[in-house]
Amino acid sequence: MKKKFFCGEINKKFLNKEITLYGWIESYRNLGKLIFINLKDREGIIQAVFKPQYRAAYKIANTLRNNFCIKIIGKIVERTEKNKNVKLFTGDIEIIVFNIIILNKSKSLPIDININNTEQIRFKYRYLDLRQFKMIKNLKLRSNITHYIRNFLEKNKFLNIETPILTNSTLEGSRDYLVPSRLNKHHFYALPQSPQIFKQLLMISGLDRYYQIARCFRDEDLRSDRQPEFTQIDIEMSFTKSDIFRTFIEKMIFYICNKINNVYLNKFKIFTFQESMKIFGTDKPDLRNNLKLIDISSFFFRKNKNINRIISINIKNKYLYNIKLQNFKHYISLIKNYGTSDLNIFQVYQNKLINLFNKKNKYFSNLNSYITKDIIIKNNSSDHDIIFIGTEYKYDNMSSMGYLREKLCKDLKIIYDKTYHPVWIINYPLFKKDKEDNLVSVNHPFTSPKNYLIEELYNFLDNNPQKIISDSYDLVINGYEIGSGSKRIDNYKIQKKIFKILKISKINQQKNFGFFLKALQFGTPPHIGIALGLDRLVMLLANTNNIRDVIAFPKTTSANCLLTNAPNYIEINLLKDYGLSYIF
Ligand code: AMO
Repeated sequence: MKKKFFCGEINKKFLNKEITLYGWIESYRNLGKLIFINLKDREGIIQAVFKPQYRAAYKIANTLRNNFCIKIIGKIVERTEKNKNVKLFTGDIEIIVFNIIILNKSKSLPIDININNTEQIRFKYRYLDLRQFKMIKNLKLRSNITHYIRNFLEKNKFLNIETPILTNSTLEGSRDYLVPSRLNKHHFYALPQSPQIFKQLLMISGLDRYYQIARCFRDEDLRSDRQPEFTQIDIEMSFTKSDIFRTFIEKMIFYICNKINNVYLNKFKIFTFQESMKIFGTDKPDLRNNLKLIDISSFFFRKNKNINRIISINIKNKYLYNIKLQNFKHYISLIKNYGTSDLNIFQVYQNKLINLFNKKNKYFSNLNSYITKDIIIKNNSSDHDIIFIGTEYKYDNMSSMGYLREKLCKDLKIIYDKTYHPVWIINYPLFKKDKEDNLVSVNHPFTSPKNYLIEELYNFLDNNPQKIISDSYDLVINGYEIGSGSKRIDNYKIQKKIFKILKISKINQQKNFGFFLKALQFGTPPHIGIALGLDRLVMLLANTNNIRDVIAFPKTTSANCLLTNAPNYIEINLLKDYGLSYIF
């Protein structure tokens, strides 16, 4: 195949060379004797000039309009000094066109890609939206990151293996997308929430090191970092330990970041889940947020010291520039939704704490001068700083004061650091209670408990499952959960026991996981793995906070594709084919 040059790549090395370029007309100027166009492709823009001496080309150029798709053949020349355009990468040169073919005309575009359009219109005409350089840049970044990941893993003897899309439920904790089977009436496939079980089966097959850039599907409420279908860098490995495996993943991420320009990745830190909840009030800490949760419980008399912590958050006065103190009032009601009904907001002034909104200072009535002094010292506060004080309520992986800490950081725009701060959160509990008071897996049901002696483990499983720590880890970068993984259960009996604790009946165990339980009995190797969210990783490295910016054809927050109108109604006749007409 002939070597392809892109408009945006042409530079002085091409001077006096004849080349062929393809692209779309970005702008058009007819000066009578000369016709100029800016020709655009995915790599950039080049100026093309049509002169009357090349009659045929000049004649066609007179009929050109914006967005026509054309092919040109011409010679690269240097522009005169006064005509150079420093804003354009190709601004020193231009192409004098001898030959042009209009490959396709274009109607005027329904969106102006140079202005900020609504997401509605952008998604409806996504293929035009993707003509923006900032979108192309994100997709190129995504393509490069995928390439580097494959490179790294394949150099380390990982095999790229695909696993089924039409499968059964994988119990990752979200709702499944179901696909009716035409050949097996009233039966449904589930689209995989992840390749979890298959990658474990591949370890049992002896494939030892597996990876896949895997599509996953989850029917869950969407957020700016969630899509119903998304991509995981899914990895599994036999015969290794968590800490060694994590170091390997760190190396992979350093490798990717080194290959990409302008990315500075700090050293990986490690916190246990308990530590993270205590220090940051969340298991997804953004280490750039320098607001601290200061535990001041010991300054107050409480009936039951173990129930909740009393937490203070000090905001340095340098962050309060241009902020009206009145604006802080709404945090009191906001944080009530998260359980803290006693938030008080104080201003520090001459060793006193002035309660800004609650003059009677109901809950913290013990704020005598000693306590005040202790609080000021412990918070390292200076005059005019603001201190938030409230009782902390814990949820699964976020506490009320942890939420406030994050919200204040965001609202006061405290973070300036543009570098990346990775942190491993390890040792999650194996189980937690759901709203109905049932035990559910914190990670997924295949996660192994951490280094227990077998009798000790059975004892815990029988008597105190909530106390069991798992051999698990999440990778968090700048407050986003980028990946999650664990050592897996490789013991048939323990896996069965876990299913039992999760109240999966024997019949359902057999029905849904019988094949897996059987497989575990054929010499399962110890194995370990992780899945990194590719979309989230690209989102971070592309410096955006909207996952939809790095996906070519994303869904809206209500899981619709505005381009194709999926999901769509199905004709009753078609439903009959699937044996589903009864649903109407
Ligand atoms: P988990 O469910 O934590 O683990 O998913 C792994 C990573 O996938 C990304 N992710 C998502 N990205 C975009 N949209 C979503 N809806 C979405 N859901 C998850 C996150 C997350 O950290 N099988 C296990 C992994 C393992 O144990 O190996 C799993 O899927 O970045």
